[in-house]
Amino acid sequence: MSKDKKKKKRNQPEKKAGKKQKNKYAQLDFDKELTYGQKTYNKLVGEWWLSQAGDKAHRKAYKHIADTLKKLMKGRPQEVVADYACGSGALLWRLARKFKRSRVIGIDGSELMLKITDQVLMHRCPDDAARLELIESDLPNFELELQCDLIVYCFPNICPRGDDQPYYDEHGAMHKADRKAARALAKSREKNPDDETCFEKPKQVMMELLDSKVVSRNLHALLKPGGICARIEYSNAAFEELSELVQQRCLFSMGALDKPFEGHQAEPIFELLETTYHISDVIDDVYHQQGAEDEEEEGGYHINILRAI
Ligand SMILES: C[S@@+](CC[C@H](N)C(=O)[O-])C[C@H]1O[C@@H](n2cnc3c(N)ncnc32)[C@H](O)[C@@H]1O
Repeated sequence: MSKDKKKKKRNQPEKKAGKKQKNKYAQLDFDKELTYGQKTYNKLVGEWWLSQAGDKAHRKAYKHIADTLKKLMKGRPQEVVADYACGSGALLWRLARKFKRSRVIGIDGSELMLKITDQVLMHRCPDDAARLELIESDLPNFELELQCDLIVYCFPNICPRGDDQPYYDEHGAMHKADRKAARALAKSREKNPDDETCFEKPKQVMMELLDSKVVSRNLHALLKPGGICARIEYSNAAFEELSELVQQRCLFSMGALDKPFEGHQAEPIFELLETTYHISDVIDDVYHQQGAEDEEEEGGYHINILRAI
């Protein structure tokens, strides 16, 4: 979830976790942990994620996402399907069952997550080992040689390490047109100050926009021409209810900003085909990470469907 899409709403973690468990994860300093890179999912953050991804709201969401993608891909090529940052495989096994004839690949940087995914696949899809594959890799990774028909990026939380920036710079974060558009998007503020949700310095916002676009470039590089990328992102409102500025920042991050912003045109690499909003308690993931509690408000996820240009 982009910082813009985070909201001031609060969650009720006790709804899902027992008191003991809640205390265990309450000591987690996500801001600090997520700076350790993807390996952070090998430790307590990984345990936290397992408890989240296995709850009722997530199970319902993964089922809904897999059903939606199956319908969406009807009549389209579906030889190769990949789950980018697949986590514990909660969506991957459903994709494997839905796309029965496809080669289905899960990619993640955490050994713990992949170990669990492997067990999940063996249990849920015991006869499909020949067409299922797991790849342990830091992401983004422009050396991966995949040509997918569908790539899924679900509940993203890519953690770059402090020393990753040169890699991002080499793979698009220095793109001139993108930098100009990102700078303008980062500096811009809501017309009504009461609507402002972005409180970081413009430089920081610009870096975040450019780095997320690099991840989009990587998703693009892993697709066949015209391939489909499904991004499932946390949100607290339907896309069209977000402010125009937030919408444009989201489109930039996804590589789908097709109009100039204040005269600056970023490079479009995807076309946004559709975006739908689904209310769900999965939004609690975000509130946990913000250390928020005690208030119950609406939120959920977007399913954004993009086609590689
Ligand atoms: C919030 S979980 C989402 C997992 C999965 N997509 C899902 O919806 O269940 C984020 C996943 O991204 C992976 N990850 C985070 N940063 C990464 C990086 N730099 N390289 C590779 N994987 C990364 C973590 O290991 C974790 O499995």
